[in-house]
Order: sequence, then structure tokens, then C-alpha cells
Amino acid sequence: MSQKLFDNEIFFAAYRKLRSEKNYNDLLEQPAMRRLLPGLKGKAVLDLGCGYGCGSLFLAQSGAKRVLGIDLSEKMLDVAQKDFCHPLVEYRRMDMEDLSQLTEAFDLVYSSLAFHYVEDFLKLAKDIYRLLKSGGVLLFSQEHPIVTATMNCKGHYNLSQDGEYASYTFSDYGRGGKRIGHWFIDGVENYHRPMGEIVTTLSQTGFRIEALVEPLPEPWAVSEKPDLAKEYIKPTFLIIKAAK
Ligand SMILES: C[S@@+](CC[C@H](N)C(=O)[O-])C[C@H]1O[C@@H](n2cnc3c(N)ncnc32)[C@H](O)[C@@H]1O
Repeated sequence: MSQKLFDNEIFFAAYRKLRSEKNYNDLLEQPAMRRLLPGLKGKAVLDLGCGYGCGSLFLAQSGAKRVLGIDLSEKMLDVAQKDFCHPLVEYRRMDMEDLSQLTEAFDLVYSSLAFHYVEDFLKLAKDIYRLLKSGGVLLFSQEHPIVTATMNCKGHYNLSQDGEYASYTFSDYGRGGKRIGHWFIDGVENYHRPMGEIVTTLSQTGFRIEALVEPLPEPWAVSEKPDLAKEYIKPTFLIIKAAK
């Protein structure tokens, strides 16, 4: 079973604080994901790694007839049940590495920033393909492969002589596999996959890729959080929309 990172007390408290402030999810990743959503009216949606459930709630409020949100973390699901409940949303504690347990068919499989925690992407892609109706859509975001590449997660920005952000250093891009680094706590595990591996895996599973987006911030977002201008040096997120 995957690590239970989000149930670690220290990690969970720090992550909640991050999400309560101006953050990259709300200002960059979510606006880009929402621009790519297919029509939701009357659709059945599976939200993988739903976390607090803010995405699941949004999908139900946008017309989906049913949303099943699954997540590994008890703490995240507790918040989802309490603060993001909706009559058309069901939250379930489940590992997305065990999707073979599901028999229901979905029009949309959605996942925000969770796939880089999963080791076996080919199995995940095949499981999702099986669960989608014909013509169904997979829309997911993950940390960009440039971000996941460097061993010990130690990629870093470099400053110019004027003290401006100028470039970004990363390495080990071609070595796919587990990375163990520090994000609020030590020992956080992610899986790095080069872009070619992600796209080829989806394509060989049978998906038709409709969009591959490395989101850039809108001007309003940069004025809210000037740090976002760094996205022009190096993307933080990768978003893919693919159809069955
Ligand atoms: C960065 S959070 C994103 C949460 C939510 N999608 C959002 O955008 O607010 C990643 C979530 O993925 C969940 N997760 C990680 N690995 C998982 C797995 N194998 N199965 C189900 N959930 C998983 C974590 O518990 C966590 O809630």
C-alpha cells in the first residue's frame, strides 16, 4: 500500500496551512484544470486522490450527477466529509492502486496532484481506461517531471547578479523511479517519470491525448502572488487531458 503521508500529524498541519494561504493550487493549477473540464451535466465522475474534496465538490456543483472521491488519507477524508460534503458526492477510503475493486463506469476520471505518489503508472492507466465509458475523459495534474526529476528533490532556482530569478537547475531527468525528499517532513516519497514515459504509457494504453498543458499564470494571479512569474523559467505542474 502507498505511504500514508497525509496522515502524518506534522505534514497534515503544514499542508493545511499551505492550502489556507495564497497557493499554487488555487492560483495556477485549478484555473488551468477547470479550463479543460468536459461538460459535466449528468456525468459520473471518479476523483482519484480527492483529498479534502474541494475538487469533488466543485465537480458536483458543476452538474455531475455522481462523484466518487477516493483517497488513502483518513485525515483528508475527515475534512472532506465535514467541510466539502454534497448529496451527490460519496467519499471513500481507498487506494488508487486498488482500482480493480471498482466495477462502476465513469464519464470522467479526474485527479489533481496525486499521480506522482503512485509507483506503477502503467497499471493505473490501464485501470482508469477500464473504468471509463467509451468516449470518457481522463483529466489529471501532477508535479511536472522537471520538478520530480532531481534525486532528493533538490532542484533549485539560480539568481542573476541583480538578485532576480534567472534559471533552474535540475538533474537525473532520465532516471525514472522513486525520489525521497523533504516537504515539511523528511522521507516524502514521489515517483519521477520523464514526460515521454507518461505520454507513451497513456497512448499505448489506448488513450488519445487531447491536451498537454504546462500552465502559466494569468496576470491577475501574478499580482496576487508575484512568485508565480517563476513559471516562465520552469513549470511546476503538468496537466493532461486524454480520451478513451
Ligand atoms: C496533494 S494532495 C491533493 C488533494 C486534492 N486532489 C486536491 O487537489 O486538493 C494528494 C492526495 O492524494 C492522496 N493519495 C496519494 N496516494 C494515493 C493513493 N495511492 N490512493 C489514493 N489517494 C492517494 C493523498 O492522501 C492526498 O490526499
